[in-house]
Amino acid sequence: MNLNPICSCAPLEGVTGYVFRQLHHRMFPGVERYYAPFLSPRSRKALTSRERNDVHPDHNRGLTLIPQVLTDDPALFLTAAEAMAELGYEEVNLNLGCPSGTVVAKGRGSGFLARQPELERFLETVCARSPLPVSVKTRVGLDYEEEWEELLPLFNRFPLRALIVHPRLRRDYYKAPVRLHLFRRAVEESRNPLIYNGDLFTVEDIHAFWAAFPGQNQLMLGRGLVTNPALVRQLNGGAPLQKEELRAFHDALLEDYARHLSGQKPLLFKMKEMWGYWLPLFPEAGKSAKLLRKCQTLSDYRAAVSGIFAGPLELPRGAGGWQATGRLP
Ligand SMILES: Cc1cc2nc3c(=O)[nH]c(=O)nc-3n(C[C@H](O)[C@H](O)[C@H](O)COP(=O)(O)O)c2cc1C
Repeated sequence: MNLNPICSCAPLEGVTGYVFRQLHHRMFPGVERYYAPFLSPRSRKALTSRERNDVHPDHNRGLTLIPQVLTDDPALFLTAAEAMAELGYEEVNLNLGCPSGTVVAKGRGSGFLARQPELERFLETVCARSPLPVSVKTRVGLDYEEEWEELLPLFNRFPLRALIVHPRLRRDYYKAPVRLHLFRRAVEESRNPLIYNGDLFTVEDIHAFWAAFPGQNQLMLGRGLVTNPALVRQLNGGAPLQKEELRAFHDALLEDYARHLSGQKPLLFKMKEMWGYWLPLFPEAGKSAKLLRKCQTLSDYRAAVSGIFAGPLELPRGAGGWQATGRLP
């Protein structure tokens, strides 16, 4: 077993924004770094107010936040990096993983991976001029595994703060099995510090991962951590998630989102998104889950949630056999 895991929270747009991060950090301490969902600078003008809010230092007190930028324009990346340096951040992350059709069509996110000459020039510029160290979060290619053979040496030409590898191609989205043999290649060849990301949902998953990659103590956890906010504590030998804790976390999220969002509709939308991760923990939710899906008012929502919490919570067990989809089943 690895004795010194260093766990980061993955950026999940719409899920791990500052409300989630603040509460998670307070109620389930132990995550070393939180990567913020991407900022997408469109012009040299400032960020949108939603983006500015998310990375505002007042909204991220006490935790280590690493802002992420999604762009293929070095000037825009540098402008965002300068803004982040002014806010006091110490690293800026480049998104080379986003699989969304509109992003890929513009050659950004994982779409940038297929434009290697431009990507190389981009990294040359931003690594030379960024006021902050640059890290990269990447997939292993757009369409073909062979792309990784070119991408790894390309990344090796730059002194990255970290290379975060989600070993899927763009066409795998988040579902197809992770391509661990390509991560192995990174372990063998990367000159940059590596962080592994992908499909670590349970402590058993992480132990199985360590059996294959014993020295890889830097992990980034996404859906697994949202589903089980106590995953890092449990990994460090602490108690597994208790139902009462998840209830308290839920109630605090609901209260904070109610203060930050205007109107019931966006609030219900946000909370239903969280239940996409949590519902699989409640095998007996049945009727209440149906109510939750259908509810249109806060009082119906509260009734459905009470019904769900009246049943037992069962954490997923074992390695590999279970996946949080992030969608209401
Ligand atoms: C709803 C959702 C939103 C995401 N948003 C981002 C994002 O803003 N930036 C990013 O680099 N990755 C994003 N990702 C990818 C995750 O950071 C992570 O790489 C992916 O979920 C795989 O890790 P996991 O298996 O631990 O969840 C998103 C994934 C999901 C499901």
